Amino acid sequence: MVHPWLHIYKGNLYGGTDWMERKYGWKRDHTGEKKTHFWEKCLKFDLACICLFACLVICGMGKGEAVRESVVSAVKMQAGGGGASGQALQGEGNAEKKKVAITFDDGPHPQYTPEMLAGLKERNVKATFFLLGEEVEKYPELVEQIQEEGHLIGNHSYKHEQLSKLSMDQACAQVTRTNELIYGITGVYPAYLRPPFGDWHQELDCKVNMVEVLWDVDTRDWSIQNHGRIVEKALRDVQENDIILMHDGYETSVTAAMEIIDTLLERGFEFVTVDEMIFD
Ligand code: NI
Repeated sequence: MVHPWLHIYKGNLYGGTDWMERKYGWKRDHTGEKKTHFWEKCLKFDLACICLFACLVICGMGKGEAVRESVVSAVKMQAGGGGASGQALQGEGNAEKKKVAITFDDGPHPQYTPEMLAGLKERNVKATFFLLGEEVEKYPELVEQIQEEGHLIGNHSYKHEQLSKLSMDQACAQVTRTNELIYGITGVYPAYLRPPFGDWHQELDCKVNMVEVLWDVDTRDWSIQNHGRIVEKALRDVQENDIILMHDGYETSVTAAMEIIDTLLERGFEFVTVDEMIFD
């Protein structure tokens, strides 16, 4: 399943169609995808049952008691492993939990990124951080910590300029320079790009293999800077499979993010990084 607002062309990044259309297009795709997935599962389960039954019949008729017993015991063992397969099934049930992704832009920030990371660790929640090259240069140890703690790192350009207002070369340099900086610290090239202001001009054609990631819920935490109002806005708007946009540069964003996370966990949501949301 791919969000329709993610435009992946081999070797190129490309984007910029109308946001509402992309959002609703995606919801439709997503429903279709789930159905296919369910029927595929049914078909696989039926085929497995038919094979097992045929095997039992053939063994029972042709090869005598010993073979039949060995098959029966094998089946019993499988059933005995029922605990395990039951758990696996339950695990699958968990995988079907309502997913949501929380993302933090514009960091790393020397004070609030560590606070955010501590809160996420305490709750065992993984998030996605879209980092600015400029800040990556200043706080490489925080970039390392974000990666070590299992979060996903994305590119948010070098200097937070509106890329469509720049020349092609300048805009691409904003992206590639930040990629190189992050790679220099983590050893991994970011695969996800969130252009500042969600603005990526269609004509821009950088030779990078990246996926554009926008958002569904804009908490406007950077402008509101009020714990209660940020929480209220996020919780009012959030739905299954949404990507929440926040920033790890403000005290109120840290406290609000923790309350949003706690509430959504209580409501049965599971937090995933954007890669899981997009390509699951
Ligand atoms: Ni930003």
